[in-house]
Amino acid sequence: MSQNKNAAADQSKVMDKIVSLAKRRGFVFQSSEIYGGLNGCWDYGPLGVEMLNNLKQQWWKSMTYRENIEGLDASILMHPRVWEASGHVENFTDPMVDCKSCKARYRLDVLFDELSLKRKKEALRELEPGKFEGQLKDELVIEEFAKRTATDADSARIAAMLPCPNCGNKGTFTDARKFNLMFKTFVGPVEDSSSVVFLRPETAQGIFVNFLNVQSAGRQKIPFGIAQIGKAFRNEINTKNFLFRTREFEQMEMQFFVKPGTDDEQFEYWRAARMQWYVDLGMPREKLQWHQHPKDKLAHYAKDAYDIEYLFPFGWGEIEGIHNRTDFDLSRHEQFSGKSMKYFDEATKEKFTPFVIETSAGASRSFMAFLVNAYDEEQAPTAEGTTEMRVVLRLHPKLAPTKAAIFPLVNRDGMPEMARKVEADLRQHFRVFYDDSGAVGRRYRRQDEVGTPYCVTVDSQSLVDQTVTIRERDSMKQDRIAISNVRAYIAERLM
Ligand code: GAP
Repeated sequence: MSQNKNAAADQSKVMDKIVSLAKRRGFVFQSSEIYGGLNGCWDYGPLGVEMLNNLKQQWWKSMTYRENIEGLDASILMHPRVWEASGHVENFTDPMVDCKSCKARYRLDVLFDELSLKRKKEALRELEPGKFEGQLKDELVIEEFAKRTATDADSARIAAMLPCPNCGNKGTFTDARKFNLMFKTFVGPVEDSSSVVFLRPETAQGIFVNFLNVQSAGRQKIPFGIAQIGKAFRNEINTKNFLFRTREFEQMEMQFFVKPGTDDEQFEYWRAARMQWYVDLGMPREKLQWHQHPKDKLAHYAKDAYDIEYLFPFGWGEIEGIHNRTDFDLSRHEQFSGKSMKYFDEATKEKFTPFVIETSAGASRSFMAFLVNAYDEEQAPTAEGTTEMRVVLRLHPKLAPTKAAIFPLVNRDGMPEMARKVEADLRQHFRVFYDDSGAVGRRYRRQDEVGTPYCVTVDSQSLVDQTVTIRERDSMKQDRIAISNVRAYIAERLM
């Protein structure tokens, strides 16, 4: 195996270990597992839901605990005209091909993206013999291939040259079809076209249609924002990589409404703020990068767009998009609803349609990024003077599902009673866990594996002087502190 292949195999092993830990310790289960699962859907277990809630709470606080951003919780089902106005009915499609031999289904653009430069070069040569002979510069191949695959006729001819990745047969792909990613359902008992509604594919539209409601209810002046966390649904053709691309997921979106002309400055402000949010919650900056959407690939509504990407074991992947959506959405809703979506500036007596700077994060996807980022294995010393492998989730204490575990060193001499008292006090403030089974070293390992930042142990000295040891997960260092200080010690580190 080449070095690259070795590295890829190691990375996929890491992913397998994380998925297995997530299931074993109750972070994430496959949806409807006893029936064989439902592709693209996952359930958050007891620890997963805590961590996800912590993540959402951190985002909610960072957005709405300020003067100029209001919260919202809009319904998932919306008037079907919303999705015509937003462009989703027309544009929210992926080109899809089916293999006639083995029935595997692919996104055509993904098949193209995954082709090596060599294959792209070969395709261009087959497309126009004579034109692309001799040495071709890589940039020319990339540019020409992108141009050709943007046309239906050439992309169909290139698809016909490709072998199916599943069965290996060539020339078996159907023509590409546009596949709309929105899930449809019906309101009321009659299932006809007049009762069709969609499960929202993004939370943003609930914000746009409520722009004036929130502005007047909150007595907000431009610039101001609206933040929302909620489920979104996309009938993705290929779900993959655990929580990365799923059919049901959660978004944390904020639309910041600004005066046209101030949008570039606001865009830069929000780009910096959003990157910092991940860093403040423990992501190393070098594992995050910006990807600017090339002008010819911008979404239909965007003037400029950057993704924040995280370095997953399978490569860089988008976790959040920051978009300058111009006045596209409000103008379109004005046009489709016939209701004015303009803002009146009392101070300057100007009336205008605001521009929107959007920060759109995946709660589920960034949950996965934080989980992956936290996973670590190391050799740790044992009580016997040897070392053993320790798996530790180095989650930021604010994200950790359990903040502290409380152990009596042994189950006698009044230690359990004292430990229960410590637990009862802490439980009023934090999510804690009481564990009295097995050697204390084993108990530490169980908590390390789920990212509990502090373990509090009641031992024989505790009975004498009302102190406990408190062990920090990452350094494994222990402090001895007064029981009366334990709550403050933990609280301070969660600030
Ligand atoms: N309102 C803009 C919007 O929805 P997007 O780039 O399509 O933009 C924003 O989605 C974020 O939502 C992504 O960065 C990602 O974190 C998350 N996301 C999108 N599709 C997803 C999927 N199928 N599964 C999990 N998360 C997804």
